[in-house]
Amino acid sequence: MSSKRLGIKTIKYLSALVIAVSLVLMGCSAGDRSGVDTKEGVTSIIGVSQANMREEWRVALINELREAISSSLDIQIITSDATGDVDKQIRDIDNLIGYGIDLLIISPCDEKELADKIKEVYDSGIPVIVMDRAVEGFDYTLYIGPDNEVIGQQAGNFVGGLLSTDGGRVVEILGRPASIQGKERLLGFRKALDEYGNIETSKLYIESETKDAAYDITMQAKGTIAEADVIFSYSDSMALGVCDAVRELGLEDKVMVVDCDGFKGADEGIDLVKQGRLKATVSCPIGGKEAFDYALSILGNESGVPKQVILRSNLITAENLEESIERMNRQSNDDGRTIKVGYSQVGQESNWRLANTRSIESAAKKFNIDLHMEIADQSQQKQFDAIRKFIEEKVDVIVVSPVVETGWDEVLWEAKDAGIPVIMSDRNVSLEDPEEGLTTTYLGADFMEEGRRAMRWIRDNVPADGKKLKIMEIMGNEGASPTEERGKGFREILSENPSYYIAYSEHGDFTFEGGQKVVRDYLENNEWDIDIIFSHNDDMALGAISELKEHGYSPDKDAVIVSVDATRDAFEAMVRKELSCAVECNPIIGDQLMKAIRDLCGGKQMPFRIITDEKIYDQSVAEDYIHKRGY
Ligand code: AHR
Repeated sequence: MSSKRLGIKTIKYLSALVIAVSLVLMGCSAGDRSGVDTKEGVTSIIGVSQANMREEWRVALINELREAISSSLDIQIITSDATGDVDKQIRDIDNLIGYGIDLLIISPCDEKELADKIKEVYDSGIPVIVMDRAVEGFDYTLYIGPDNEVIGQQAGNFVGGLLSTDGGRVVEILGRPASIQGKERLLGFRKALDEYGNIETSKLYIESETKDAAYDITMQAKGTIAEADVIFSYSDSMALGVCDAVRELGLEDKVMVVDCDGFKGADEGIDLVKQGRLKATVSCPIGGKEAFDYALSILGNESGVPKQVILRSNLITAENLEESIERMNRQSNDDGRTIKVGYSQVGQESNWRLANTRSIESAAKKFNIDLHMEIADQSQQKQFDAIRKFIEEKVDVIVVSPVVETGWDEVLWEAKDAGIPVIMSDRNVSLEDPEEGLTTTYLGADFMEEGRRAMRWIRDNVPADGKKLKIMEIMGNEGASPTEERGKGFREILSENPSYYIAYSEHGDFTFEGGQKVVRDYLENNEWDIDIIFSHNDDMALGAISELKEHGYSPDKDAVIVSVDATRDAFEAMVRKELSCAVECNPIIGDQLMKAIRDLCGGKQMPFRIITDEKIYDQSVAEDYIHKRGY
């Protein structure tokens, strides 16, 4: 029995039996409620609401889940097929809840239209894992899915590389309208191709994203196809139609086909690469196994479950086929040994950072990690020195929380050459070529989303009443990923709300003193005329508050103040009615990081990103949460 399993819940076992009986009574066919197969000893029921069972990868998701669940005697799954209909999916979810499910896994037909239903289930206390398309906000337990834009980019970079020397022609096969996944893949594909100047592209549209439609259009456009070097399809099913047509046209030796999906199975992407009919495919991870593992963690109330897991996609060609398949299938085989980790911590600039350091240090002990931490005092050079020292000391893994995003390529190449994997923690880097594998994964917050949340809160809580409200932005240090991304996310929502504008924006470097200085400098040259302060962290917001008070202004009355982090100090300021709102950035990432390190050393392929769980708090709830805040 799995160590993650729950305690015995006889009621659930009985309800599992009831499900089987009800399904028989209701005359449900295996097609719409497949997966009901009552087993003895069932302690938990997972309901799976699938958007449709037409698309192959959705069927693959159910199969992956079934395979994972088959080794767990105490877990039952019930699946439902919404046949692409939002209303049916809502009814399916109600039915699943009626069966007494303990956890819902949903792949929504439409993430916007189903957001309220997902929230309703989540609010009722049933954990919800959302797959494939994330819903806005944070009213779900965990999201697991791919990054379709990156998938497209990987394909685009491959095609760009193929044609970079002599240039060439690329034909894109597109659905009209394209699926959301298709659009995102295409966007990534084009972004990557744009980097190569000498490639011409043309498009062929099809009414439905199917094999047959792709076959027909390829046959019809044989003139264009004969001139092409590469045909790009953003799905396996369309690629198969293209491959069949290309064969029939006798162009297999001339035209290369590249696609996305890379599913397993006969005539799917991987098989087509094996057959030599596809030049490359970019795998779209399904996530069924991950969903099941996390479902167990959630049901077992384990700590360290993230908010989002963005799965890794792999470029698969004839040359790397075997190795890729082996890598993708590898599971963690952790032998429990002590792992030596070098951690380059950015500094001690904020209370957030101190809590983050403590969390990492205590989790290291718990996970049998021999942690060597170097504090860089906001100096990139000190971080380079620390990484080089870790390389010399032959640590097993290097973890970096970088002061700025750029300039890391050289030192990360040194780590790669030394065979030491690097994990980015809390902050990410921007690399010249992200596909070189210089970092294994990023674990931390979604800073863009934090910025968006701050501006959404302003939009919803600070009415402009026909005026144009002035915002002061107090930014973190220049070039740091939280600074850049919070700023971008905030501006994204701001651009949709013309009643607000940024009148003043300065760096406060994430410190209390920095926040004080930004307000002081402003007041030296201006009367106080700011309506809203958006501070990239709490320490700077608290500095701004203290400076405003110093000048006889009343925080919250003379300016609404919104910050990011949600530390205990911020809660106290909200209770004092000085700070209006704090968007959470979670520093307690030690457990998740150590788990990722152990998985990595156990041989498991890391996801692209592991995003932490975060909420938003304002004065209306501050009293309720302040006592729960340990940092
Ligand atoms: O990288 C996370 C940010 O860095 C926190 O928001 C801030 O307080 C810290 O210094």
